Amino acid sequence: MSLKYNRIMEDMKSRLEEGTLTAGSKLPSVRKVSEDYGCSKSTVMKAYDELEKEHVIYSVPKSGYYVVNDFQQAREEQEVIDFLSAGPDKNIMPYVEFQHCLNQAIDTYKEELFTYSDPQGLYSLRVQLVNYLQNLQVFTEPESLVVVSGSQQALHLLVSLAFPNGKNNILIEQPTYFGFIESLHLQQATVFGIELTMEGIDLDRLEYMFRNNDIKFFYIVPRFHNPLGHGYTNREKKKIVELAEKYDVYIVEDDILGDLDPDSKADPLFSFDPSGRVIYIKSLSKIFLPGLRIGTVVLPAIMMRDFLQAKFCVDFTSSALSQGALEIYLKSGMLHSHLKKVKEVYQKKMLLVQEACEAWLPANTSFSKPASGFYLSISLPGNVKAKQVVQLLHEQHVYVDDASRMFLPPYKKENLIRLSISQVNESQIVPGIKLLADCISVLDSRKIHGKPTNFLPI
Ligand SMILES: Cc1ncc(COP(=O)(O)O)c(C=O)c1O
Repeated sequence: MSLKYNRIMEDMKSRLEEGTLTAGSKLPSVRKVSEDYGCSKSTVMKAYDELEKEHVIYSVPKSGYYVVNDFQQAREEQEVIDFLSAGPDKNIMPYVEFQHCLNQAIDTYKEELFTYSDPQGLYSLRVQLVNYLQNLQVFTEPESLVVVSGSQQALHLLVSLAFPNGKNNILIEQPTYFGFIESLHLQQATVFGIELTMEGIDLDRLEYMFRNNDIKFFYIVPRFHNPLGHGYTNREKKKIVELAEKYDVYIVEDDILGDLDPDSKADPLFSFDPSGRVIYIKSLSKIFLPGLRIGTVVLPAIMMRDFLQAKFCVDFTSSALSQGALEIYLKSGMLHSHLKKVKEVYQKKMLLVQEACEAWLPANTSFSKPASGFYLSISLPGNVKAKQVVQLLHEQHVYVDDASRMFLPPYKKENLIRLSISQVNESQIVPGIKLLADCISVLDSRKIHGKPTNFLPI
């Protein structure tokens, strides 16, 4: 069966290339194709389903299958192997459901969604967010939450905010999320780093930093770290919170990918001290619709007033339209089934990428093996630079990220690349990793032998 359906797919694509099937035209009926190819109708249906998944054709109930209007664009998108983009997988976003929520929110709230609203966020949304956070072992109340315009806003505001401990400096994992490093630079914050590897951080070093460096807060991405894919054990998280308590340091916990954790026993740092030592930030951008620009932060009461003042100064409030529609979506319970789907999709892609890395990458590279999430990182052989790999692969339409910008200068590594699995199609994973492997081998041998190869110009 599989050979026939592949042949049908290929033949249809060839006809598109040749122009004998054009954008908007109807494909031959399933019955006709099954007769022409001497195969069952289900084989033809399978071929058409696959073409639909690749966005080459679409179906109209009771009518048939048609070629998409932007076939050329769909084909170009197909050719790109994207391990770079870090937005959620577009194919599993609930656009239609959310459209209903938007309409319903407008019907329900009317002009309220189009005027200034509570800077802390719609109370009714905060109630829903409290329920949602419980699934992540974060138990709080609507009064402790602020709805923010993406977690980036909360992070940015916290950099300059005065903290109750009266301290001045910020400690970050190295490497860490690039957007936060940008925010630190822009605000000229004094920042220290602590090295993070897939083995974790050195807790003695952390204690030393807490004790001696006037640390206001420690910014930490505890699950499915960006860019490493690293995650802390519950024991480590508990210890970090204890040290923070001992040295009067705050923790800013960015749990952006926490929803994807297959380990139901993994707790956030917040759960080890919900009294205000840990500021918990949860974005919905990776599991839902990042363009809504909605996230939330759980703050200690003592910081609420100053934080709200800072937020008011930058945008008054986060979009009330996004908030109202999100509230309806959460209230309907639709997030639950959506989350189930996204968890499966990302976990599967993550596994496929790791299997491909295991099978194809040269022995002198190593890669991280997170159980899910968006990111994994690959350490290249010492003499191969991430920048070169990125450039060489780009010429082959394979996009990966050089992680060097995710480090502060003293910690910089130039041989780390980040793969994001969120937007790559499953069928492109093996070809993409094979090209990556070839590229690493070529650059490695060039360095060793010092002679040019004819693989690709650089
Ligand atoms: C670790 C981390 N934190 C925060 C953000 C910011 O996301 P948003 O502002 O969309 O919530 C990102 C975005 O990629 C991220 O990777």
